[in-house]
Amino acid sequence: MAADEAEILSIAIDSGQRGRGLSRDLLLTISAIWPAGASGRIFLEVEENNQPARRLYERAGFAVVGRRERYYKQPGGDI
Ligand SMILES: CC(C)(COP(=O)(O)OP(=O)(O)OC[C@H]1O[C@@H](n2cnc3c(N)ncnc32)[C@H](O)[C@@H]1OP(=O)(O)O)[C@@H](O)C(=O)NCCC(=O)NCCS
Repeated sequence: MAADEAEILSIAIDSGQRGRGLSRDLLLTISAIWPAGASGRIFLEVEENNQPARRLYERAGFAVVGRRERYYKQPGGDI
């Protein structure tokens, strides 16, 4: 957290516990401790093909504000 902005660097659920809505609870906890007033914003980055994560963030009200081309390494090693 810095000034009126915060950044989520990483969020992960144990692979055996996914699909139970636990990450939603994590995000709700973050929102509860982040007293975002009218100008408070939370940023994060997510790989475009990461459907569970994108769904999670969309449901939590996050919106796309920018795109970084060739930012994530692809499984084949390409970026
Ligand atoms: C992303 C992650 C944190 C989500 O955690 P989770 O507790 O399993 O997520 P939820 O159970 O709350 O599901 C989130 C949404 O994704 C959907 N979802 C779950 N698995 C999915 C899949 N394989 N494909 C598409 N959507 C999926 C769920 O249905 C849910 O959407 P809904 O609210 O509309 O039903 C978890 O998958 C994870 O740890 N991934 C590896 C690390 C990672 O990629 N972190 C994000 C980096 S930005």
